[in-house]
Amino acid sequence: MREFVAVLDYGSQYAQLISRRIRECGVYCEILPHDLKAPELDSMHPGAVVLSGGPASVLDKGSPGIDPEVFELGVPILGICYGLQLTSKVLGGVIERGRSGEYGPALIEIDVPGRLFDGLGERLDVWMSHGDHVSVPPEGFTVLAHTDTCQVAAMADESRKIYGVQFHPEVAHTPLGKEILRNFLYKIAGLSGGWSMKGFIEESVRSIREQVGDSKVICGMSGGVDSSVVAALLDKAVGPRMTAIFVDNGLLRASEAQEIRRTFTETYPLNLDIVDARKRFLDALRGVTDPEEKRKVIGKTFIEVFYNEADRIGGAEFLAQGTLYPDVIESRSAKGGPSATIKSHHNVGGLPPDLKFKLIEPLKELFKDEVRLLGRELGLPETIIERQPFPGPGLAVRILGEVTAENVEILQEADKRVQEEMAAWEGYRGVWQSFAVLLPVKSVGVMGDERTYANVIAIRAVHSVDGMTADWVKVPYELLARMSTRIINEVRGVNRVVYDISSKPPSTIEWE
Ligand code: XMP
Repeated sequence: MREFVAVLDYGSQYAQLISRRIRECGVYCEILPHDLKAPELDSMHPGAVVLSGGPASVLDKGSPGIDPEVFELGVPILGICYGLQLTSKVLGGVIERGRSGEYGPALIEIDVPGRLFDGLGERLDVWMSHGDHVSVPPEGFTVLAHTDTCQVAAMADESRKIYGVQFHPEVAHTPLGKEILRNFLYKIAGLSGGWSMKGFIEESVRSIREQVGDSKVICGMSGGVDSSVVAALLDKAVGPRMTAIFVDNGLLRASEAQEIRRTFTETYPLNLDIVDARKRFLDALRGVTDPEEKRKVIGKTFIEVFYNEADRIGGAEFLAQGTLYPDVIESRSAKGGPSATIKSHHNVGGLPPDLKFKLIEPLKELFKDEVRLLGRELGLPETIIERQPFPGPGLAVRILGEVTAENVEILQEADKRVQEEMAAWEGYRGVWQSFAVLLPVKSVGVMGDERTYANVIAIRAVHSVDGMTADWVKVPYELLARMSTRIINEVRGVNRVVYDISSKPPSTIEWE
């Protein structure tokens, strides 16, 4: 039987990271609602259960709980942060409200290594983020580790294989966190591992087939790695019952439409439908300058185009799209909990509430680098896999102010030069994104003794792992100089180029 770990979700943004780390350890993992009843959980035969962290306090009335029978299933359990406190509460320990809380790096002293900390030394750097703490563990539990301010940094009932850690082993700031999870999965739960992206493909194909049945699917394809991977997955699952719709919305980079056509008709052929909707999008965007409004208009226009195409192919019940985990949390919280909307990523936020399609979003729990692994496994060409991310709303969020045909052309031309010069640089492979932005200001310049009053282009280049945080790339001055000279000399209507030196946070990667 397929090995799998259930992560019960208590609302932490880190729940996805936990599942990602478990997958990295070679074990398939799913995030499930925390109020799942024990018999239902049992019927899924999890090899282990992890209780995630969460923003609530177990001391508050109405805070998310757990079916106490879950602790009787005989399945190894690891509670993380809130999960540890909940374990303690249900099994009879004492939890105290912290006076100050503990946030950030901490050093834990291992009192009893047990199997959880086996082979990991006597002290570990960890990442803490909690207000409450367990002061007395439940009966049968041993304290495995403490810090100066936290008596129970880790606890275990080895005989029942129930464990809890107050810190977050899933975050990068707990350097040996993955080893702790590995100990839990292999030394405690006795799992055998070996799961890989191949397994993910099998799971997705199976569940897409189940979901789609005999219906038709359209797939919003942008030509970026995410939507290409989704289209390839659907192609594998339902073949020509999926139509990949590539919408030329006039907001693409120079020569992008031709490249996509070539790739998906020749190199990796699929059922592709290219729609020329350039005029429709530009018309819809006329006079719109507010960034959120732009995203909404674009999302709405995409959906209208999809409705038309669905009718044209004789009705499609499903819409598949390449929403990733970072898109989901920045547009709304993953499982409906409270988290701020940073931007309405069009994959998610721009959809109308009365959408006529049922959504298929097979990548919703993955991060970008995992999607790239998946793409390779599916045999997509490297030119697609290594493509820099490109936002759904396209150049519209890189043209500050109104989007006009003229502005699009200026930006496409400037951007092409940024792409060419960046791609020729030896540091390019490590760059997450590099692009040009057209600013809504004009500045004075002088060209051939003539005064000019023309557009300003900003160049943005960032390093990032998942788009959630980013730092600007320290590109060599010579490269900056080449990009600037080429843009100013070769692109009509531009007389000044600046380089964006802001990280995310506090800025975002795109300018809108
Ligand atoms: P921000 O600007 O939010 O971008 O820091 C993070 C990453 O997401 C991309 N992005 C989008 N992708 N639809 C997408 O599919 C969108 O609406 C969207 N907005 C931003 C952005 O290019 C960066 O890689």
